[in-house]
Amino acid sequence: MVLKVTAFIVLVSVVVNSQQPAFNDDVLGLIFFKAGLSDPNAKLQSWSSDDNDPCNWLGVKCDPTTYRVTELHLDGLALSGHVGRGLLRLQFLQILSLSKNNLTGTVNSELSHIGSLRVIDLRENCLSGSIPDEFFAQCGSLRSVSFARNNLTGQLPGSLSSCSKLVEANFSSNRISGRLPSGIWYLRSLQSFDISGNLLEGEMPDGMSNLYDLRLIDLRNNRFSGRIPGDIGNCSHLKSVDFSDNYFHGDLPDSMRRLGSCSSIGLRGNSLRGQVPDWIGELRSLESLDLSANNLSGGIPFSLGNLQLLRELNLSMNMFTGALPQSMANCYSLLAIDVSHNLLTGNVPSWISGNKLMGSLQVLDLSSNALYGEIPSDIGVLSSLVLFNMSRNRLFGSIPASIGGLKTSKVIDLSSNLLNGSIPSEIGGAVSLKKLKLQRNFLSGKIPVQIVNCSSLIVLNLSRNNLSGSIPPAISILSNLEYVDLSLNDLTGSLPKELANLSQLVFFNISHNHLCGELPLGGFFNTIPTSSVSGNPSLCGSVVNRSCPAVHNKPIVLNPNSRGSTGGPSPNHQRKKIVFSISALIAIGAAAFIVICVVAITVLNIHVRSSMSRAPVALTLSGGEDFSFSPNNDPNYGKLVMFSGDADFVGGTQALLNKDCELGRGGFGTVYRTILRDGLSVAIKKLTISSLVKSRDEFEREVKKLGKIRHHNLVALEGYYWTPSLQLLIYEFVSSGSLYKHLHEPDRSCLSWKQRFVVILGMAKGLAYLHRMNIIHYNLKSTNVLIDCSGEPKVGDFGLARLLPTLDHCVLSSKIQSALGYMAPEFACKTVKITTKSDVYGYGVLVLEVITGKKPVEYMEDDVVVLCDMIRGALEDRRVEECIDGRLRSNFPAEEAIPVIKLGLICASQVPSNRPDMEEVVNILELIQCPSEGHEELE
Ligand SMILES: *[C@@H]1O[C@H](CO)[C@@H](O)[C@H](O)[C@H]1NC(C)=O
Ligand SMILES: *[C@@H]1O[C@H](CO)[C@@H](O)[C@H](O)[C@H]1NC(C)=O
Ligand SMILES: *[C@@H]1O[C@H](CO)[C@@H](O)[C@H](O)[C@H]1NC(C)=O
Ligand SMILES: *[C@@H]1O[C@H](CO)[C@@H](O)[C@H](O)[C@H]1NC(C)=O
Ligand SMILES: *[C@@H]1O[C@H](CO)[C@@H](O)[C@H](O)[C@H]1NC(C)=O
Ligand SMILES: *[C@@H]1O[C@H](CO)[C@@H](O)[C@H](O)[C@H]1NC(C)=O
Repeated sequence: MVLKVTAFIVLVSVVVNSQQPAFNDDVLGLIFFKAGLSDPNAKLQSWSSDDNDPCNWLGVKCDPTTYRVTELHLDGLALSGHVGRGLLRLQFLQILSLSKNNLTGTVNSELSHIGSLRVIDLRENCLSGSIPDEFFAQCGSLRSVSFARNNLTGQLPGSLSSCSKLVEANFSSNRISGRLPSGIWYLRSLQSFDISGNLLEGEMPDGMSNLYDLRLIDLRNNRFSGRIPGDIGNCSHLKSVDFSDNYFHGDLPDSMRRLGSCSSIGLRGNSLRGQVPDWIGELRSLESLDLSANNLSGGIPFSLGNLQLLRELNLSMNMFTGALPQSMANCYSLLAIDVSHNLLTGNVPSWISGNKLMGSLQVLDLSSNALYGEIPSDIGVLSSLVLFNMSRNRLFGSIPASIGGLKTSKVIDLSSNLLNGSIPSEIGGAVSLKKLKLQRNFLSGKIPVQIVNCSSLIVLNLSRNNLSGSIPPAISILSNLEYVDLSLNDLTGSLPKELANLSQLVFFNISHNHLCGELPLGGFFNTIPTSSVSGNPSLCGSVVNRSCPAVHNKPIVLNPNSRGSTGGPSPNHQRKKIVFSISALIAIGAAAFIVICVVAITVLNIHVRSSMSRAPVALTLSGGEDFSFSPNNDPNYGKLVMFSGDADFVGGTQALLNKDCELGRGGFGTVYRTILRDGLSVAIKKLTISSLVKSRDEFEREVKKLGKIRHHNLVALEGYYWTPSLQLLIYEFVSSGSLYKHLHEPDRSCLSWKQRFVVILGMAKGLAYLHRMNIIHYNLKSTNVLIDCSGEPKVGDFGLARLLPTLDHCVLSSKIQSALGYMAPEFACKTVKITTKSDVYGYGVLVLEVITGKKPVEYMEDDVVVLCDMIRGALEDRRVEECIDGRLRSNFPAEEAIPVIKLGLICASQVPSNRPDMEEVVNILELIQCPSEGHEELE
């Protein structure tokens, strides 16, 4: 409305103000035309009535002498609305180009009254209704008309025939119906005629040979019937003929042999019959020949070999017989050969790979014929091949190793042949592969692990062969896999658990093999149909309605060297062991958890029933807060003990002992992080001193004693797991890493003085408590001190030497080698007893380490610097302040720092009796700290 009112005012003002009457009609017409449009991007802003010279307006061109508007180019401006009558005022308009807008409404018949129009381009709009019958009545000047991609209906107007100068007509992609006007071939100037994608029907009128200049005719996708015009060959300039997807019948008219300039013939999807005549070889300009989906028969003519420019040949879906002619070896330019779905016989032609010039071939589809023979052994030379389909033939022999040369292939389909031998490991060379289909052959051997190199693989069908061995777990790396069919083979072994990680899976069929063990849990496998897993009597899990065996007669076996191995001849085996162990641990953890829940009468959200059913074990409750169970009282069976009731391993054990979750390694074992179901982390230490560990009873007694140690500055031992060959200690997880990391790793932010003091004091308190409980740490070092999120230190790894049968110094020092520099001198001296004072020594070294930021022993270029000695020297030289970590940049109170250094040196005295107790150390530190309270606030 607003627009209309404005337009009206504008019009009035134009009429009133105009001083150049000659321009009146054009300005008026354009402003009126604009008024009927919506211009969301204000592209027509320059179209203003204040400016009486429309020749400067956007998209408007004028005749330089008459100043009358001759051209209007408003393409792709997102204009909507109608093509209004205003245009009729533009008496001298020659080009009207409004393509790629959003114009609606019907085609205004009066437009044709502009006798000067040479070009009408309204393609790619939303025009509807039919083109008025008299639209072209005055089209004497019209050279080009395009209504392509609108929504036009009705018939092609008969008046079109009177456009004797028309060169180009494009009515494609509308919904125009009915027959072609009978006079259509009178358009003697016509060069390009595109009426594809409509609903036109009936037979072609006679007289096509009148179109002497025709270069392009596109009738694709209509409902034309009858025969291909017999005189089409008289249009000898034709370059492109497309009659595809119609109902043409009969054979190829003989006159077509005269289309010597034609580069593209498309007759796909008709009902043509008869043979492809020999003269096809005369069409030397042909680059594309598509005769697919017809009813053509007979042999493929030998003369095809003359078409040296031919790039695409599609003869698929006909009834061609005989062999592929040897002459095709001469078609040097071929990019695509599709002769699929015919009745071709004979040998696989040798020229396919024998001819070096075929190196550019991208599509080779010989599928669904009756070809016989072996796949050429040098097929890999087709290095540009994208699609390689030889399925449904009678190919025998093995798949050549050179198939790995098909590096650009996205599809390899050799299914439904008589192929035998194994799948060559070289298949891994086909790195672009998305679909690999080898089903319905006689392939044997294993599925090659190298298939994981085909990282884009989406479809993998190997069903109905004689494949054996197990499914490579590495397949779970192929994260794009959607469709996997391995059914009806002789595959054995269990299913890799990691398959559950394949998040895109929609189909996974392993039915009718000899697979065993548990189905993977999670992901697609939660909803896998029974039919996809049936026929494997030893598979278990809820899907196949068979519960998995509860108790495995062997204790859990973890091979410390088998983590994360892939590839190689036997990784599956090792991998399986771990997987099995972890699943057993899950079950154990779940059982313990449930007992705890029952005791606590706490309603928790338990999703462990499935795990439970897999581990129907006897549970025994022993002692107050300490739960354990040992199924069938088998002394060899693993035993998990948690000291307090709040641990639940059900969700977290996948990460248990996973190399990626490794936190660190020490003299006593490797530490891994795992996350519990409630999101809480624990650290699990796998003891590597198994062979030395005391008997189970003694081990348990010692560990339980350690489990009772609870202090703010000590890492709590939460539980343990025991078998003769494997012991795990379960610790609280401390988030911020070790003191060592904070001090020595370059990417850490520097600890402030205050933070360092907190660490020094906290460590002392923790050790003092430990000593009160009569426990010697034995293994103090900065990697064993952890820092929690509030900056408090927690001393870990204490008391582990107690797990060894004798406190043998040799064993100890060999186990604690890494603690070099922290070890009190008495460790090297067999006659001196190890006491809590040995810990004090280590603590002293730690204090010096914290203050200086230097390691206890540093290896210089040609020197070894022992921290204690270095500081002692500096103290004697009265330059001990220089030893304090340079990163603190004098930002520390000297009256605190110097005494702490001295305390550290005293703790690290050579003679044990000279060292203070940890209690005393705590007291001294608190004394040192008090006077400096104010200092810290200044920071
Ligand atoms: C055409 O109009 C429709 C709705 O009116 C809009 O969604 C579409 O984006 C427009 N197209 C162009 C090319 O402006
Ligand atoms: C006809 O117009 C459509 C749509 O713009 C275009 O894709 C097609 O190439 C045109 N046909 C010819 C022969 O130019
Ligand atoms: C074409 O016109 C029909 C009605 O004749 C309408 O239903 C359809 O939405 C239109 N399509 C477009 C793309 O405008
Ligand atoms: C087509 O061309 C051939 C040979 O040039 C000629 O004999 C024939 O009369 C022409 N046909 C028509 C219908 O013009
Ligand atoms: C092909 O020809 C056969 C008979 O020769 C006929 O039965 C069949 O329907 C034809 N197919 C097509 C697609 O025209
Ligand atoms: C050959 O034609 C068939 C049927 O028209 C079609 O499905 C196939 O994609 C074509 N092949 C190539 C390589 O274009």
